Amino acid sequence: MALQSARPTLRFFEAPTHGSLLLLLLSLQWVLLSRAQTADTGQGVVTPWLQRTSRDLSRQWPEPIVILPRALRGTEKKACPPGREVHVVDESLVFYSEWELEACVHGALLAEHMDQVNAVPFTYQQLNILKRKLDQFYPQGYPESLIQHLSYFFLEVTPEDIHKWNVTSLETVKSLLQISKGGKMDAQVAALIARYLVGGGQLDKVTLDMLASFHPTYICSLSPEQLSLVQQDVVWAVRPQDLDGCGPLQMDVLYHKAHIAFRNMSGSAYFARIKPFLGGASAEDLRVLIQQNISMDMATFKKLRKEALLPLTIAEVQKLLGPNLEGLKAEEGNSPVRDWIFRQRQDDLDRLGLGLHGGIPNGYLVLDLNIREALLGGSHLLGPGSAFTVIPTLLLAFILS
Ligand SMILES: *[C@@H]1O[C@H](CO)[C@@H](O)[C@H](O)[C@H]1NC(C)=O
Ligand SMILES: *[C@@H]1O[C@H](CO)[C@@H](O)[C@H](O)[C@H]1NC(C)=O
Ligand SMILES: *[C@@H]1O[C@H](CO)[C@@H](O)[C@H](O)[C@H]1NC(C)=O
Repeated sequence: MALQSARPTLRFFEAPTHGSLLLLLLSLQWVLLSRAQTADTGQGVVTPWLQRTSRDLSRQWPEPIVILPRALRGTEKKACPPGREVHVVDESLVFYSEWELEACVHGALLAEHMDQVNAVPFTYQQLNILKRKLDQFYPQGYPESLIQHLSYFFLEVTPEDIHKWNVTSLETVKSLLQISKGGKMDAQVAALIARYLVGGGQLDKVTLDMLASFHPTYICSLSPEQLSLVQQDVVWAVRPQDLDGCGPLQMDVLYHKAHIAFRNMSGSAYFARIKPFLGGASAEDLRVLIQQNISMDMATFKKLRKEALLPLTIAEVQKLLGPNLEGLKAEEGNSPVRDWIFRQRQDDLDRLGLGLHGGIPNGYLVLDLNIREALLGGSHLLGPGSAFTVIPTLLLAFILS
């Protein structure tokens, strides 16, 4: 506690050695490097549409690179040949070449006769063209009247398409879920559910049961706002791996949902249920768990939120982990365990007898935590903490001396 109030003193910067300067420069470089990498991962995301398209092509053609240019060349704008105009959707269209389909079929006709489109055994390539015609006719997204009649054509749409839709009918959702079964449609299902929920729709038990037959990866596709619209019950169907893609804000919503949903349980039964959601728990929530003697496993512990873990004392962590305490050693280099160790006195850590390193050494209390973290390349560097103001100050001191 005395540590928190101790600010860095200027004395620390009076005589920087070459060694400490080098260390700071390295730290600074590390910060810039990791920032650049963070920025990098925000880009270069392959759109679902592209993924879907390449999947479609490879499903059909072993060498999409050879086929694709030909397909495109064949569908360049040409007028529909006399006598080939299309007024009805029927089997005769199967014998139309790709460019003829492109030139002779109108999106309005397809929208009007979606039932027949689904009844004709078109090739994937032909379906791609028909879908393009439909998309050209509805650049803002399909109207709900068409969505209701899409049936198997739903398998051709991308998540991006679906995000343009308004879906207010639970019956439509259910019929599209039915069609999506076994079709690697997880992303489309996630988009469909998101659109339905954002329009104020409620999922009933039957729909949730249907969703359970998909990998509920859709749960992390929902924004925190959408998640908050999901019924409490959905957390009963969520498997731990479904939460892997959820961010802190989503976990926050899901934890509260789960906490309420599982409130009729207690002790180890409650813990078994709430475990996958604990990445959204606060320090207070963890303190309540600690009272339950639950012996948290290390896999769960290392997924706790850093902000939830940091306020816990050594005694609390000891009680939280029980016999699993020794697992801390293997995690001592990784966040959030590293960050927690970092805030403990080394003396107290030593008393655990696990050989943990990285605590606050004796007589080292002058340093501000942020600076200590800066020197050791801790993960707090990314914030605009005092470390950033310290580095230029120190460089200046070095140049002037
Ligand atoms: C969806 O609803 C909004 C608001 O009513 C409307 O502006 C939009 O055009 C609709 N989109 C489609 C594809 O129907
Ligand atoms: C808690 O409620 C759920 C459904 O709401 C039920 O399935 C479960 O059996 C209940 N558990 C206990 C211990 O009452
Ligand atoms: C947890 O363990 C302590 C000490 O072993 C015991 O006093 C307490 O009653 C236990 N709490 C629960 C909820 O089991």
